Amino acid sequence: MQSQLDYRDTPSLLIDVEKMERTLKEMATVAADAGVALRPHVKTHKCTALALRQLELGARGITVAKIGEAEVMAHAGIRDIRIAYPVVGEYKLKRLAKLMERAEVSVSLDSVEVARGLSDLGRRLGRRIPILLKINAGLNRTGVLPEDAVTAARALESLPGVQLVGILTHEGQALKEPSRDGAKQVALRVGAIMVETAQRLRQAGFGIEEVSVGSTPTVRDIARVPGVTEIRPGTYIFNDFNEVTLGVASEETCALTVLATIISIPADDRAVLDAGAKTLSSDLLSPPSARKGYGYIKGYPDITIARLNEEHGILTLQNAKSTLKIGQQVEIIPNHVCPVVNLADVMYLMRNGVCEGQLEILAAGKNR
Ligand SMILES: Cc1ncc(COP(=O)(O)O)c(C=O)c1O
Repeated sequence: MQSQLDYRDTPSLLIDVEKMERTLKEMATVAADAGVALRPHVKTHKCTALALRQLELGARGITVAKIGEAEVMAHAGIRDIRIAYPVVGEYKLKRLAKLMERAEVSVSLDSVEVARGLSDLGRRLGRRIPILLKINAGLNRTGVLPEDAVTAARALESLPGVQLVGILTHEGQALKEPSRDGAKQVALRVGAIMVETAQRLRQAGFGIEEVSVGSTPTVRDIARVPGVTEIRPGTYIFNDFNEVTLGVASEETCALTVLATIISIPADDRAVLDAGAKTLSSDLLSPPSARKGYGYIKGYPDITIARLNEEHGILTLQNAKSTLKIGQQVEIIPNHVCPVVNLADVMYLMRNGVCEGQLEILAAGKNR
């Protein structure tokens, strides 16, 4: 059921529509100019209307992490879905089978065990499920090392219900860099690793058509590496304070803010917001930064959101106390926008300070 609360009834998420549209169009141009496909990761907005808008602006398809996200998106009519996450276990495979009745689905994976489950499903359905081999290009999360890619691909060859169509990585390690230039170096390095790996696989006889990469801090550089075929940025749609700290976004290009209200000023050096960890998430900044706290309050660079409880955000005030009042509302740029959206039910669409509608976050909480 859609919430009918007023956006001023806080805490609430506001989208500056013009800022978001500008970034969406810019990313479509980045992809078109580089001659690569754009496949945005929808885990950032979790919202069918925004995924459809990305497709309308030229995205080839979407990326999801979880089958629950894919189910919501397929229900809205989205047909081309890449699950950039290993699908493990019979319950997930059952849901994947149903999903494949409605959408063209591809899956990334890094093990023969996961591929075998998919292959059995593919065989039952009488088709080959497209798979992408996940490469660990430095994030050290999932993925096979580039030097092991040919061996890993050989292990998949005998499986009749899957078809290896490409390789995929996520260069999220760029977010730990201290600067935009550091992120650029990661982009170029990972781009080169992926293109070389694809080349070695082709030389070994594998039909690698897709070289899929992407993260917001690197995407504008890695898209232009010759041989890359697809980019999958997610966070770019809203940006956040991580991206600002890294230098790939600015306060001006952050499209989503949390509107919160000062509910208490119990001491000279302390005020309290009605947004805690259940609104802002507990994520601190990723890039190395002198800035502490759980988000950036616009217009108040000296105030830190120093602590969070579930429903309270505790501000440490230096000399700003006199400017804050109980009942006052402030806008916060989240450190990491994706978990913030996942914790909400609606987002309000704002244009020039006027609310022109709201979007239901239909895939919020769809974490399985
Ligand atoms: C596999 C994968 N692809 C793409 C992305 C998008 O990255 P970003 O949110 O930095 O744009 C993510 C982010 O977590 C991811 O895990």
